[in-house]
Amino acid sequence: MSKKPVRVAVTGAAGQIGYALLFRIASGEMLGKDQPVILQLLEIPDEKAQKALKGVMMELEDCAFPLLAGMEAHSDPMTAFKDTDYALLVGARPRGPGMERADLLAANAQIFTAQGKALDKVASRNVKVLVVGNPANTNAYIAMKSAPSLPRENFTAMLRLDHNRALSQLAAKAGVKVADIEKLTVWGNHSPTMYADYRFATANGKGLKDVVNDQDWNANVFLPTVGKRGAAIIEARGLSSAASAANAAIDHMRDWALGTNGKWVTMGIPSNGDYGIPKDVMFGFPVTTKDGKYEVVKGLDIDAFSQERINKTLGELQEEQKGVAHLL
Ligand code: NAD
Ligand code: LMR
Repeated sequence: MSKKPVRVAVTGAAGQIGYALLFRIASGEMLGKDQPVILQLLEIPDEKAQKALKGVMMELEDCAFPLLAGMEAHSDPMTAFKDTDYALLVGARPRGPGMERADLLAANAQIFTAQGKALDKVASRNVKVLVVGNPANTNAYIAMKSAPSLPRENFTAMLRLDHNRALSQLAAKAGVKVADIEKLTVWGNHSPTMYADYRFATANGKGLKDVVNDQDWNANVFLPTVGKRGAAIIEARGLSSAASAANAAIDHMRDWALGTNGKWVTMGIPSNGDYGIPKDVMFGFPVTTKDGKYEVVKGLDIDAFSQERINKTLGELQEEQKGVAHLL
């Protein structure tokens, strides 16, 4: 094994997504079967959380993963993010009883301000950051704004779960394999306002817009199903999605690090002004990736229905941004 180990920080490491995520990172599913990793795991200082984290680390040890070159438990982002090459920010404050959306935004703003500042001070200058903890886009925006010495494009938010949910729904409707679908994207916020757009999607070279020529299904079945899937999982499981969220995080980071070979994927990224989305808004876009960099797919036609959906999800993100502006 000749590659130098890379450092991967994961926050909320003792939580349910953490439990579905760490073993796959350590087995090489995220960064490749030839890439050793050192896990730098962050949990809140609370005794119970730290003890649970130790338990997860015991299990990681018991897997004897050949690629796991080291692992550390942390309770302070300043040590957890030291020299880290990848940071998966999963831990967040869940909504508690009687908590309004503004309270949730404020509680998470504090966490992601502190973590952004820590990344700014101690992480690798090339760190790739993925924010999973909700509200993911706005938390990623806060972390980016709190890390002025890091390139802004290093901060991303997870829209990949929405993308994967849309792929499965579309494949079932069109009667094609998930693996055959290309050029699907999800615009906007990781929330029910997201806009899953299959107007450009193909399967085996055939346009899916023609196969599924059903605007009623699009507007009244497909988009609500994908948009409300998180709530449907909570309703069914009594807990929010975890394995599928971890899977999406692996997909996002793997594609960013290793490239998509020209294929489109969806990433939440700080806007450069493409498609009229104001600069820095953390927005889901179609991208391709190569050599560790992503590039927005340009020049797509936006019709009236799509523009309306994009405006709606953008409006929601701008409201969230406004809600935390005084904290930045
Ligand atoms: P969980 O409650 O099981 O675990 C979260 C863990 O984070 C807990 O162990 C907690 O102690 C820890 N934590 C909280 N604040 C922390 C901090 N400041 N630093 C380090 N650790 C901290 O939750 P989960 O099911 O693993 O979900 C985690 C987050 O991911 C939630 O915000 C959830 O809403 C979100 N989520 C996002 C998506 C997405 O697609 N973006 C999908 C599913 C879930
Ligand atoms: C999901 O999409 O499954 C989660 O973001 C839902 C949630 O609110 O935690």
